[in-house]
Parts: sequence; C-alpha cells; structure tokens
Amino acid sequence: MKTITVNGGRPLFGSVMTQGSKNAALPIIFATLITRGVSEIRHLPDIGDTRVALDIVRALGARVQSHGGTAYIDTRSLGYRDIEEEKICKIRASTYLLGSMLSRFGKCRISSFGGCAFSDRPIDMHVDACLAFGGVPVGDTIIAEKLHPAEISFKKPSVGATINAIILAAATNGVSVIRGHAREPHVHALIDFLSSAGALISVTDEKITVEGGELHGGNITVIGDMIEAGSYLAAGLVTGGRVSVVGASNEDLASYLSALSSLGARITVRGSIICAHPSDSPRAVRITAEPYPAFPTDLQPITAPLLALFAGGEICDRVWTGRYGYLRSLSDFGVRYRVEGGTAYIEKSELHPARVRAEDLRGGMAELLAALAAKGVSRIENAEQILRGYESLVYKLRSLGADISID
Ligand code: UD1
Repeated sequence: MKTITVNGGRPLFGSVMTQGSKNAALPIIFATLITRGVSEIRHLPDIGDTRVALDIVRALGARVQSHGGTAYIDTRSLGYRDIEEEKICKIRASTYLLGSMLSRFGKCRISSFGGCAFSDRPIDMHVDACLAFGGVPVGDTIIAEKLHPAEISFKKPSVGATINAIILAAATNGVSVIRGHAREPHVHALIDFLSSAGALISVTDEKITVEGGELHGGNITVIGDMIEAGSYLAAGLVTGGRVSVVGASNEDLASYLSALSSLGARITVRGSIICAHPSDSPRAVRITAEPYPAFPTDLQPITAPLLALFAGGEICDRVWTGRYGYLRSLSDFGVRYRVEGGTAYIEKSELHPARVRAEDLRGGMAELLAALAAKGVSRIENAEQILRGYESLVYKLRSLGADISID
C-alpha cells in the first residue's frame, strides 16, 4: 500500500501539461476489441486504470506495445476467455467488456464490476443495451449468435451504457439509433475513434446514429483530461497560489470554470491555457452536479476543500446522490459539514494536517487538496486509489512547489 506524505501550506505556482483523459482512453482501449487490425492511441495516460485495461485486452490475445504515451493495439487474433474477477473489479470501465466481448465473441459475462464504490452503481441499462442488439441472458452470461441493429432509448443519460450501446452498434452490420444518450466529451472521443476505424456515426442533440460493420484498426489522439485539469486548478486555489493547465478544453470545463468564478476565483483562458488564482472576495456558492454540460460529478469532491477554505457553500450531486463519503475524511482536516436532504452543506473552515485513507479516486484527490492546503505534515494511505487517475502526480505537484513524497 502506498502512502503520500505532504508538508502542506505552500502556495503552488506554475503550469502543468494535462494528461490524456482517463474516461476517454478507457472506452477506446476496450473498443479496439471490436476492430480487426492495429490501432494507434496517442496521448494515452499512464495511470493505474489504463494499465489494468491494457492488461485485460492483452489477456484476450491483443498484442500491445506502449511507449512514450502511444499504444499500438493489435486485435487481429483474439480468443474468448473469462477474465479474472480480480482484474475486472479494479476498474469501473471493465463494464465496457459487456459490449465489446459480446460483439467480438458472441459472449460476455456479467461480473461485479469495480471502480469507485461511492454509490450503488447499477448496470441494468448496460444489460438492456446488450439485449436490444440480440443478446440473450443465460445465467451470469449474455450470449448472441449474431447481433442485429437496434433502436434504443435510455431512461436517463448514462456514460457507460451509452458507450456500450455505441460499441455494440459499431460492431453490428446495419443502422442503429441511440436516444437518451450521454453527451460527455469522452463519448465523442470514442465516436471519433470508431469513426477512424470505419464506423459511420452521426450525432445530434436527439440521437446517435451508427452504421456499423467490419472495422479496421483506428487511430486517435486522446483529448485532455478535464478532471485532472480541474484538480490542478483547484490545487493552485486551495494553496493561495496560481496554477495554469495546458491542453484541456475550456469549453468542456465551462460549468466548472463558471463555478470557480462564482466562488471568487479569477480565471483566464488563453488558447489552450487555463489559469486560476484566488481573488480577495470569496463567495458562498451552491454547486449542482448533473450530466454534461452541467457541473461534472467527478469535480464535486475536488471543489469541496475549496468551498471550505473560501466562504463555504452547498453541493448537491444529482448523478451519484450519495457521493459525500469523502467528506468524513475531509472532516479529519477540519472541514465542517452536514449532509441533509441529498445536499452537503460545507462551512468555512480552518484546515489542519491529518492522517487519512483514500477510499476512492476523486475523494482521495479531495483529501490531497486538503493536505496541500493545511500547514504541516499530512499522510494519505491507500494512495493507489488516486494513482488510478493521475499520471506523474508527485512529479507534477513537486514541479508546482509542493513538498510531497510517496512510499
Ligand atoms: C462514468 C465515469 C465516472 C463518472 C460518471 C458520471 C468512467 C470510467 N466513469 O461512470 O467517473 O462519475 O460517468 O459522469 O467513465 N445508471 C443506471 N443504470 C445503469 C447505469 C447507470 O441507473 O445501468 C445511473 C447511475 O446510477 C448514475 C447515472 O446513471 O446515477 C450515471 O451513471 P453513468 O453515467 O453510467 O456512470 P458510469 O459510466 O458508471
């Protein structure tokens, strides 16, 4: 188990390059399974989750070469096999095996998929998508001799279920239509990859139309990780410094940047550089996390330490309604809060160092932000959870002036 030690209270200054988006890279890696050829994925983040994903496609027979942020994945000869639960349980994105394995092998297994356990994470819509394309449930597997095109209308926007439906549609001969889809930038990144592999996909506000079939290898440069970028902007703000991030889309981050401005941060955008620094007049704000283009749920834990340090405020997460568990750890740093009626009320608080354990990825990052802000030595155990999503974390924070180490 890795432990991060931070001697906090130092303002962070400088600029970081944004890594490739975790949530875009993962579906792209699993989508290579429905292609027959060599795919080139550039700007692939070297993080815990992508390593597990590459291990899983390797286990299915893919040949993977990865160096300098580019992976080549050769999926010309694959073979079905059950993937060990231990691997599946490590990452949420293993749910994409439902669509990709059913498409490639005519069989997929419904497992207890992993990832952050901040809430119940149902998979009914993923399974519905598999069945809509002709999958038949048999015990804990879904089988299909041949998939047929489908028309799907999701009851609510789900990133994962939309991604599985797009993968299934791209692998199926004929035209499929997906309504009620998620609109997150990583969904569009997957579409760009599958288009490069030969699928014909068009997107409107109302529906995604996919003409699928035999796909060859694709190629893509993974978009910048908006959640990582948002995290470093927050690191600058909680320490009273000034951090710029390079390579994340300010359009994708619009609702986050607007929330930061409302709570009293000064934001400047120049080309692909976004910079944030605190102003003298912090204000209490209410943040509501909802599907894109609204405020992203993955940035709400990141914003909590900021609210505590600035002027307090409220967080209401409508995507993962119970996603407030990380606040218990933040209270060890002195953050005062209460959760009532699905909203977390956070008071302006003085922070002090603490020794905590990272229970999930973004909650762990929230703890790290509190540790960077609190004057003195803090320790965060189980840091692997944070490393699942942040490339060169210690190196990047040191380059901004943080006194941080990991053992
Ligand atoms: C993805 C992200 C995660 C992010 C989330 C929401 C990855 C690997 N993970 O997770 O970081 O927090 O999007 O932006 O990209 N739901 C159902 N039934 C289903 C599936 C989902 O009811 O079958 C509900 C969930 O309970 C939740 C909502 O839909 O309330 C959105 O979940 P979803 O978008 O599917 O999240 P993930 O794809 O798991």
